Amino acid sequence: YRNLRVALLGGGSVGAQVARLLLEQSEELASRVGASLELVGIAVRNVDAERTVDLPKELFTTDAESLILGADVVIELMGGIEPARSYILLAINSGADVVTANKALLAEHGAELFAAADQVGAQLNYEAAVAGAIPILRPLRESLAGDRVVRILGIVNGTTNYILDRMDEAGDSLEDALASATALGYAEADPTADIGGYDAAQKAAILASLAFHTTVPLASVYREGITSVTPAQIESARKAGYVVKLLAICERFTDEHGVDGVSARVYPAMVPRSHPLAAVHGANNAVFVEAEAAGSLMFYGAGAGGVETASAVLGDLVSLARRHVAGGPGVAASSHAGLPVFDIGSVTTRY
Ligand code: NDP
Ligand code: HSE
Repeated sequence: YRNLRVALLGGGSVGAQVARLLLEQSEELASRVGASLELVGIAVRNVDAERTVDLPKELFTTDAESLILGADVVIELMGGIEPARSYILLAINSGADVVTANKALLAEHGAELFAAADQVGAQLNYEAAVAGAIPILRPLRESLAGDRVVRILGIVNGTTNYILDRMDEAGDSLEDALASATALGYAEADPTADIGGYDAAQKAAILASLAFHTTVPLASVYREGITSVTPAQIESARKAGYVVKLLAICERFTDEHGVDGVSARVYPAMVPRSHPLAAVHGANNAVFVEAEAAGSLMFYGAGAGGVETASAVLGDLVSLARRHVAGGPGVAASSHAGLPVFDIGSVTTRY
């Protein structure tokens, strides 16, 4: 067997589970890849912090740069923009392939990172950045690449779905439900990203860019969070046969001059209780994709959570490790055809 050295940046909710699975399943993964995947270290801020998973102490370091420079594959699970962006660029430019789950970074700086990866032929995989464990990005990038996607509609933030569910089903306050979402490892390090709709908007930008073969800037995604949804609104929606859900909608769009473009928006909406999205509970996500030839497709499953997200991260790792072993090129990180993107900031609240 060849040996691929894997460096992990971040040992939190997701990183600790990735490390555990890499260590526990090393033989099985090696036989699937045709090379052993050696976890060479885990970069964190505090090596003495208490961890959710019992991992060998000697793996932890605060020296992320040295770890990156000694790796064949870097898995970035720190979150945030910096230093994650610089570390990923360092990894790419030092010849490593990269896996990340960092939608905040990709939505802001994806074009720069994809271009850097393409320039040196590095692979940059990010399945876990949207909808946790659900395989949705690879189907859009690969399986549906020959079709024409016209619409994506779904629930792409687990924390807000969990909160709205708890408010609806148990009468919890938003604050109490958010505290348990945080304890369960669903929320972002700054949960304003979840409840303010920023995380869902980042995911909508990524989904729309992939689905419509363009670059949808985060700034052009219309965004409302759930902070102004009140228990009284949830109660009146219930009485009328609806449930409030935070939706992300990405669509092809023709303006009044007949010019084609795309739009992306995130806002809380009243969904009829008979609709399949009303049955998405807890931190689960669901994404409907409508394509001209394929028709309607539905993707459903865990949208957040450490171990669930680790599944998508490891899938990305196995996929790029196989290409590494075969010596073949990866799928180009960037594939943008340049449709105009419309800012539809005038959309009004839907609940
Ligand atoms: P956590 O906050 O639980 O963990 C972050 C980890 O990164 C910690 O181990 C932390 O170190 C380390 N870290 C943060 N900043 C630095 C730094 N400057 N230098 C070195 N180490 C650093 O995050 P999650 O595991 O929840 O999320 C990780 C990524 O995955 C994020 O991009 C998130 O958006 C994404 N994601 C998360 C999901 C989830 O359900 N949690 C689902 C899908 C994606 P220390 O432990 O010492 O503080
Ligand atoms: N905080 C995010 C969510 C994690 O709740 O959906 C998964 O991306």
